[in-house]
Amino acid sequence: MNETNLSGGLEALVQQRPDAVKRVFVKTYGCQMNVYDSQRMTDALAADGYVATDTPDDADLVLLNTCHIREKAAEKVYSELGRIRRIKAERAKAGRETLIGVAGCVAQAEGEEIMRRAPAVDIVIGPQTYHRLPDAVRRARAGNRVLETDYALEDKFEHLPQLREASVRGRGVTAFLTVQEGCDKFCTFCVVPYTRGSEVSRPVAQIVAEAERLAHAGVREITLLGQNVNAWHGEGPGGRRWGLGELLFRLAEIPGIARLRYTTSHPRDMDDGLIAAHRDLDVLMPYLHLPIQSGSDRILKAMNRRHTADDYMRLIDRIRAARPDIALSGDFIVGFPGETDDDFEDTLRIVRDVTFVQAFSFKYSPRPGTPGADMEFHVDEGVKSERLQRLQALLTEQQGDFAAGLVGRLTNVLIEKPGRSHGQWVGRSPWLMPVILDEKPGEIGDIVDVRIMRTGANSLFAQAV
Ligand code: SAH
Ligand code: SF4
Ligand code: F3S
Repeated sequence: MNETNLSGGLEALVQQRPDAVKRVFVKTYGCQMNVYDSQRMTDALAADGYVATDTPDDADLVLLNTCHIREKAAEKVYSELGRIRRIKAERAKAGRETLIGVAGCVAQAEGEEIMRRAPAVDIVIGPQTYHRLPDAVRRARAGNRVLETDYALEDKFEHLPQLREASVRGRGVTAFLTVQEGCDKFCTFCVVPYTRGSEVSRPVAQIVAEAERLAHAGVREITLLGQNVNAWHGEGPGGRRWGLGELLFRLAEIPGIARLRYTTSHPRDMDDGLIAAHRDLDVLMPYLHLPIQSGSDRILKAMNRRHTADDYMRLIDRIRAARPDIALSGDFIVGFPGETDDDFEDTLRIVRDVTFVQAFSFKYSPRPGTPGADMEFHVDEGVKSERLQRLQALLTEQQGDFAAGLVGRLTNVLIEKPGRSHGQWVGRSPWLMPVILDEKPGEIGDIVDVRIMRTGANSLFAQAV
C-alpha cells in the first residue's frame, strides 16, 4: 500500500467507522530526539490502523516515551504509570482493552525493573528497537508481555515506514530530523551512552531523502538532531568522508528548505567544515547550542568533558569570527561532586565572558551506573539550589539584555500559526524565540521581514515591514 492510500484510508475510516479505529496516546518526555521518535512511532502504528489521540481516556494504546537524564524525569514516569493503570482498570470494566507501553530511555535503562514493578505494563521497548513496535503491539494484543531492549543489529531507520506526508503536514512548517544517535563520550554524569548506545550516523542518502520528503510536505525549517550531532559523519560522493558542515551544504540545496539548525553539539566536535558552514551558509541560522556544563577546569576534567574553559573560549572566538552575529545557548550543571565555591565562581565567570541568549541549567543528579554517582564529596542539596538560583539569575539577565537589544532591529520570521489572541500571528525568529505579529503578514511557511517593536515574557513583538 502506498502512503497516499494509507493516509487517505485511515482518515476515511475515522470518518466512516469511528468505532473500528484504534487510538494511541503518546506522552513524550525529555529531549527533541524523543519528540522525533514519538512521531516516528505514531507513524509506524498508523500502518496498523492506529490514529493519535490527545487523551489517555479513549486510548487503546498508551505509550510513554520516557527520559532518564535526571532523577525527577524517571520518577515522573512511575507516577504517570499509576494514573494510566487506573484508566486501564476503568476501561476494562466497560469491556475495553488498554495496552500500556513504555518506550525511550527509562525503558532501556530499567526495562526489567519496570516489568517487575508495574505489572499493568504490556510493552517495554528501547530507543534502538522501536521499529519493532507494531509487532510488539500485535504480540501484546495476543496476551503476551513484551520486553524489547536488546540493541538491534538491523538499522532501525531502514525498517521504519517512510514519513507519512499527512502527519508531517499536520505538524507544521518546522521539523526535526535525527541524523546521529548515541554517544561515545561518557561524561561521568550522563546516562545517554548507556540508554542510546554508541554513536551511529545515518547515511547521507537516507538523510537527504527524508529531508526531501519533509520539504515536499511543506516543511521550511529543519533541525538536525543528534546526541552529538556534530560527531555525525558520512560518505559523500567518491567515498570522501563528510562532516556535518558538508551535510548542511547538501541539505541547503533542497528546494523549499529555507532554514537549517542542528542540536546538540559537543565542543570537541566543532570542526573547521562546520564553522565554514556558519560563515558561508545563509540558511544555517545564526544560533548555536553548545553546552559547556561548567567553567572550572577541575570540574570539566572530573566530568570527562575533555576540554578546558579556555578551549571553549577560543572555540567561541573562532565561531564568532566566522559568524559575528551568532547567538549562543548552553547547558550547565551545578553541584557536580567536588564543586567548590571557587569552581562555581569560574562557571559564573565564563557565563559573563561568553554571554548566552538561552540556557538550560540543572542541579547535578546522581545517576545509577554512572561514574559520577560513585564519586566522593557530593554537594549538599541546599548549596546546589543556591548556586542554581545565582546562575539562573545571571542567565535570565543575559537573555533579557539580548531581547532588549533586538528592539528596533530588522530581522525575518518564519510564519508558523495563528496566535492566541484574535488576529495575531506567531512566527519564529532566527534565534528560536517566538515573534508575535499583530496582523497576518503572509501565508504559513512564508519568511517575512519584520521590525522588532518590543519584548514580552518569552517572546518578541514585531511589525511586518
Ligand atoms: N549531548 C549533550 C547533552 C545531552 S543531555 C552534550 O554533550 O552537551 C542534556 C543536558 O542534561 C546536558 O547538557 C546536561 O547539562 C544535563 N544533564 C545530563 N546529565 C545530568 C545529570 N546527571 N544531572 C544533571 N544534569 C544532567
Ligand atoms: Fe551525555 Fe556527554 Fe554524551 Fe552529551 S557528550 S550525551 S553529556 S555523555
Ligand atoms: Fe532523556 Fe534519553 Fe533524551 S535520557 S534527554 S530522552 S536521550
